[in-house]
Amino acid sequence: MLKDRFGRPITSLRISITQRCNFSCLYCHREGSKGSEDREMTPEEIERVVRVGARLGVRKVKLTGGEPLLRQDVCEVVRRLSGVEGVREVSMTTNGYLLADYAEELADAGLKRVNVSLDTTDPEKFRWLTGGMRVERVLSGIEAALEAGLKPVKINMVVMRDVNHEEVLGMLRRFSGTDTVLQLIELVPGNGEFFRRYFYDLDLLEGEIARRARVVRRRRFMHLRAQYQLNGSRVEFVKPMHNSQFCAHCTRLRITADGKFKPCLMRNDNLIDFLTPMRSGAGDEELERLFRLAVGEREPFFR
Ligand code: 5AD
Ligand code: SF4
Repeated sequence: MLKDRFGRPITSLRISITQRCNFSCLYCHREGSKGSEDREMTPEEIERVVRVGARLGVRKVKLTGGEPLLRQDVCEVVRRLSGVEGVREVSMTTNGYLLADYAEELADAGLKRVNVSLDTTDPEKFRWLTGGMRVERVLSGIEAALEAGLKPVKINMVVMRDVNHEEVLGMLRRFSGTDTVLQLIELVPGNGEFFRRYFYDLDLLEGEIARRARVVRRRRFMHLRAQYQLNGSRVEFVKPMHNSQFCAHCTRLRITADGKFKPCLMRNDNLIDFLTPMRSGAGDEELERLFRLAVGEREPFFR
């Protein structure tokens, strides 16, 4: 299994398959969009880079965007990746808007799970945060995903001061008894002014929940994240900022929508382009060399 210089194995790939998005969230850090706007990988190209990764130990692939469901060929991408030898799980992070239309087909194509972003269930607040979208569609998307067996559905809730920090318990109650995990995510700087105004430290909240709940498990290769169980709901905390434990247990390499390896979520100064060489006829050995080069660039951002 391939490890980086800090002993972290690379077992998962997070692939942005498009920079396009139908939402414009106020806080969006535009994860996928750090390059040329119009270059997207074809399903064959995505499959090829995943094959290279799988030979080096990658076991899980997560598709993200932008919004991955905006790609017409998203089911083909899922089908191809599910068939790659060594890959055990293909999952997706989506804003959920188109999920009701796609859930069944995605499950048939081999998708195992989805993460759906849902910061608030208040229709007005949701419109404000997302640039005018309807929360009801996302809620139907979550239901459709559960029905299609894409379980557990992870609900990604970015917690923001004075926006939704008081909605957390309500959100827990709402999804209690369903096969969901509520992931409470700390705001990461993207839009600087927004970050300063709305950052909310999750430590206090985690302390409170930890006292009232029991720890179900702590997952070593998932940033050492604890999962708590409380009144029929499961909760996880995602705290990347200034968290050396988060970085020390990171096992993920990212790929941008325009075909570059991105060794760290927090940096854009060490991307490694593989799509240009791939399109100029590079063989698998060359792609493997670039993959290893990107892994060699990995270092914990917070130590
Ligand atoms: N901070 C934290 N999470 C963010 N996301 C997007 N921008 C930010 C940010 N600045 C989350 C979305 C979604 C996932 C793809 O990333 O809410 O759940
Ligand atoms: Fe950004 Fe995701 Fe919101 Fe789209 S849905 S704007 S990618 S946070």
